[in-house]
Amino acid sequence: MRDFDEHNITQAVIDRFAGTPDARLKRILNSLVTHLHDFIRDVEPSFSEWEAAIGFLTRTGQMCDDKRQEFILLSDTLGVSMLVDAINHRLPAGATETTVLGPFFVAGAPEFANGADISGGLTGEMLFVEAKIAAADGTALPGAVVDVWQSDDDGFYDVQRTDLTDAALRGRFRADAQGRIWFRTIQPAAYPIPYDGPVGEMLTATARHPWRPAHVHFMIAAPGYETLVTHVFAAGDQYLDSDAVFGVKNSLIREFTHHPAGALPDGTTSDGPWRHLTYDFGLKPLAQQQAA
Ligand SMILES: [Fe+2]
Repeated sequence: MRDFDEHNITQAVIDRFAGTPDARLKRILNSLVTHLHDFIRDVEPSFSEWEAAIGFLTRTGQMCDDKRQEFILLSDTLGVSMLVDAINHRLPAGATETTVLGPFFVAGAPEFANGADISGGLTGEMLFVEAKIAAADGTALPGAVVDVWQSDDDGFYDVQRTDLTDAALRGRFRADAQGRIWFRTIQPAAYPIPYDGPVGEMLTATARHPWRPAHVHFMIAAPGYETLVTHVFAAGDQYLDSDAVFGVKNSLIREFTHHPAGALPDGTTSDGPWRHLTYDFGLKPLAQQQAA
């Protein structure tokens, strides 16, 4: 076939993929070509706009290295990451809602015993965290592996701070016989996603801000259950309704309550005022995922 025009070229490209052996790949490519061509017919880009788009995507790729993933940031800020998350986590009652992994998770974080302080010497308002890990039906999950990570009180993760050589404000805990973990840390602050790259240009050009509301990340794994990736957000944060990556869900917001110096829930004491976060997590059984 020859003489392609703006009306018949879409079907011609789809036909060219007709011999794709992998049925899933073929379906994805057909849909991609259909939507991409419809998008182009809709906006009718000039050549300079097409070149600008190619340049933007090129710079997005060039911004990526082993510490910076600009394409995930682009996916996050366009709401694509949360859409993929939603499609893949249709949850049963009692299961904790999920949200984005984000770019600051580090595999192999240091292991801590319950009650440990993960602040790594960083100063801030003391935060005592207690969590309960259970199945969606409420059955406690002793031995569940819980990774936690968070920003400091200036909104930076340890991997963003060139002055730190060791991990800080991240760690791995194991749930006790009642499915509980508890630890000391500092109150996290709201922070901007990295905006010194192409995604930042996009946010600036569209009058959007780069901020995320303060939160603590949790990743919880237990045999027989879908690994839960989520955050708990601090109630009252000014960015809860405008999170740059669309990650906030009402069920994930908690008060980080204020308390005067004195006894902590684990029987130790705090010399100064402290804040308290509690959250009961529910994990989705794997069998339900496979049946879905
Ligand atoms: Fe985060």
